[in-house]
Amino acid sequence: MSASIIDGKKLASDLRLEIANRAAALKAEKNVTPGLAVILIGENPASVSYVTAKEKACQEAGIASFPFHFPATITQDELIAKINELNRDPAVHGILVQLPLPKGFSDKAVINAIAPEKDVDGFTPVNVGKMLIDEECFLPCTPHGIIKLIETTGMETAGKHVVVMGRSNIVGKPVAVLLSRKGEGANATVTLCHTGTPDASVYTKTADIVIVATGKPNTLTGDMLKSGAVVIDVGVNRVVDPSKPKGYALCGDADFASCSEVASAITPVPGGVGPMTITMLLWNTVESAERAARN
Ligand code: GUN
Repeated sequence: MSASIIDGKKLASDLRLEIANRAAALKAEKNVTPGLAVILIGENPASVSYVTAKEKACQEAGIASFPFHFPATITQDELIAKINELNRDPAVHGILVQLPLPKGFSDKAVINAIAPEKDVDGFTPVNVGKMLIDEECFLPCTPHGIIKLIETTGMETAGKHVVVMGRSNIVGKPVAVLLSRKGEGANATVTLCHTGTPDASVYTKTADIVIVATGKPNTLTGDMLKSGAVVIDVGVNRVVDPSKPKGYALCGDADFASCSEVASAITPVPGGVGPMTITMLLWNTVESAERAARN
């Protein structure tokens, strides 16, 4: 079998048109421009590149982005004071703090400072808790994007076996929760594999869908898959490649070559999950602005 490619770029661009239309309607009808504050601390190259992409995507969708790039010497108290100020600013509908934060910061304390109604990443305990008990909330962007990508494959998730590899708070745990909820686009039997799982292939071999989010290249290989499985690769790893202009190439957590021989559909890296994460962030920001305009 040769897997079809799940085109995250195309889906993202379709959804971004819809988001841009919603932003334009909000501006026309209520004179409200959705606004996203993007906070970056330090110079982590991957974080710098994600944040740049998020700011550019905002502009293209008619969302105002308010960039706050601080040196790693800013104190946690100063950072939290800034977040509190943004919590009170009516022009700001979403606040994003790019993770991971540099050494010395507590991700939890900083994220906790974001007002839940502006937490468009869906990372605060209030939004995580609401997601768990099916209350309306901001869904975390990567898991939400994954659900949308699976939908495009036409594979029904209800009653299917989904294996999630990786138990991060940002991807693994929330996507496992979302896919096991009752309702459309979910209702799957979910197995969550992690570093404590002696042999993940025992589970992946019976999986209809495998979501791999371990942060390690080659976590998933073709021999670990059932024929026809759908593979969602969340990894973005930089591997040294002197032949590339930047000196590195990007690869996912799955071995694309061997997996695409066995799978029925697979997300590429880049161009799969990545564009969807940013899209769902824009989605949540417009949603937040619409809610604020209603109140
Ligand atoms: N770091 C890696 N993924 C994300 C994300 O979706 N949001 C934020 N804020 N930081 C991240």
